[in-house]
Amino acid sequence: MKLLPVISLLALTSATSALDNGLMRTPPMGWMSWERFRCNIDCENDPKNCISENLFRDMADRLAEDGWKEMGYDHVMIDDCWSSMLRDKDGRLQPDPQRFPGGIAKLARYLHDRGLKLGIYGDLGTHTCGGYPGTTLDKIDTDAQTFASWGVDFLKLDGCYSNEEEQQKGYPLMSKALNATGRPIGYSCSWPAYRGGLPPSVNYTLLGEICNLWRNYDDIQDSWDSVQDITDWFFDNQEILQPEAGPGRWNDPDMLIIGNFGLSVDQSRSQMALWAIMAAPLIMSNNLRTLSSEARAILQNGAAIAINQDPMGVQGRRLLQERSQIEVYWRPLSQSASALVFLSRRQDMPYRYHTSLAKLNYTAGSYEAYDVFTGKTLSGLSAATEFTVSINPSGVVMWYVYPKMHYEHPHAIVHMVWICVKRGSVPIAVIPPFHH
Ligand code: GLA
Repeated sequence: MKLLPVISLLALTSATSALDNGLMRTPPMGWMSWERFRCNIDCENDPKNCISENLFRDMADRLAEDGWKEMGYDHVMIDDCWSSMLRDKDGRLQPDPQRFPGGIAKLARYLHDRGLKLGIYGDLGTHTCGGYPGTTLDKIDTDAQTFASWGVDFLKLDGCYSNEEEQQKGYPLMSKALNATGRPIGYSCSWPAYRGGLPPSVNYTLLGEICNLWRNYDDIQDSWDSVQDITDWFFDNQEILQPEAGPGRWNDPDMLIIGNFGLSVDQSRSQMALWAIMAAPLIMSNNLRTLSSEARAILQNGAAIAINQDPMGVQGRRLLQERSQIEVYWRPLSQSASALVFLSRRQDMPYRYHTSLAKLNYTAGSYEAYDVFTGKTLSGLSAATEFTVSINPSGVVMWYVYPKMHYEHPHAIVHMVWICVKRGSVPIAVIPPFHH
């Protein structure tokens, strides 16, 4: 298989321009209600798990108090089923009064006081996918202004119950309307997911100009099958999708389901690794109150996050699908570093995969590899060095690879600030060994 040289990859990426709101220069991170809590509105019988202000306040507390915010998970995103079935007398959306008695503005303040941001959900169409009031074309300005007046920082605009023509008009109009509020509001467009995700029905050039991220494909479900299906679709279509991503404009393969019921520990590492390679938004949908320590360690893995948040913002690619059912994924990173993921689709036992960096298209030279999930460093690798990685069934081995040269010059370390993760105004320099 022929690999695109890095140079042409970069050229492709810099040719794209992003929505000019200055937001989400690295993929957004946070928590969203949908996959785990769906449209559970039964607060009477299931008060802890229903869509209510308590759920979002609880998750905000967890993000702020359990080390998530420091790792970059700073958004709490309300998904569907938050609103009242009726607009107010002035035609504005309003939250369900029983489940959100304090209102959205108060919830936004609660989050902002903790250094977090609030996301909300709307739907371009007559109804949301869950049957709540939608945003028809005539309501776009009103809804943008309402969200801004509440202090909302992010909008996911779904596309149930609208046709192609309405979407063609509505998604750009909402982008304008959000900008016109003067409040910086990250904008996620589900538009491509409703148009098959591929050109010619989807115009990614336009999407990048009007949205910060977009759902390209089907909803994630709580299973390894679903993670594999999404992974396959994104990498089967990488020639189209990969060049479209970059700072401020991201493909969104949907939420992280790590910490729920469907993934083993190995499969959880696989999702984290693949989402990092894809430069995907890291938006968890899980119960942060009861997360296992394994799930937390995977989601808070500093190296995986740093790879995901690399400032160059180049989405990675699948390099190889071996007959042995091993697949190799690669993402170029700043400071001449890169990430490699070896994924096993096998269902038998750990597989010993033999290869070399040269076989993975690395140029001659001397490298070190930091193993993201074991924390071990492999040194003395030349491009030609044959090595073996042992990959568990449905698991991964993930490496952060960097040229040895950099390490020998103390200056270079200061100069390069390896992978600088900028969150708000606080830059965090991640230098191996990564903090966990
Ligand atoms: C669609 C979206 C999901 C979620 C639900 C809510 O299916 O793709 O992410 O927002 O609607 O009803």
